[in-house]
Amino acid sequence: MHRVVCPGSFDPVTYGHLDIIGRAAALFDEVVVAVGTNTSKSGLFDVDERVEMVQGACAEWSNVEVDTFSGLLVDYCRDVGAGGVVKGLRSAGDFEYELPMAHMNTQLSGLETVFLPTAAQWGHVSSTLVREIAKLGGDVTAFLPEDVARRTVERAQQGSAS
Ligand code: PNS
Repeated sequence: MHRVVCPGSFDPVTYGHLDIIGRAAALFDEVVVAVGTNTSKSGLFDVDERVEMVQGACAEWSNVEVDTFSGLLVDYCRDVGAGGVVKGLRSAGDFEYELPMAHMNTQLSGLETVFLPTAAQWGHVSSTLVREIAKLGGDVTAFLPEDVARRTVERAQQGSAS
């Protein structure tokens, strides 16, 4: 497969996300990291800030580009010419959440989903937990690139973007 999309909220991007993006970049010719909005989650950063942080964190991979998307993932993938999406799986819970979406996306447009098991060291890491730790004054530097960690702590102490 030539081009794939790694979709997510990336609020903020974690080492777990970067593990998946880096491995996708090694497996596929081109990777588009698509920063979307999950309407059921309350955000810390706006989309432009998330894109900026993902771009900084992905600078080492020349075949990775960062974009935003809204609406249906299948429509976005068609528009950018991607035949598949790559998703990380941390747990059986992730699988149960992702499987119906993968089936739906295949039924809607033939879009394939490739699941990569999250590296064991990041299996417990989520943006949601990291945001909570930062809000409560904990140390998040083990889970986030340096610049992202600094911005997350600053923002969490101020309150959310939206
Ligand atoms: O894992 P995340 O970070 O919560 O993912 C957020 C996002 C925006 C990638 C996800 O909510 C998504 O894929 N939205 C697209 C909407 C869509 O296509 N819905 C139908 C799925 S079958």
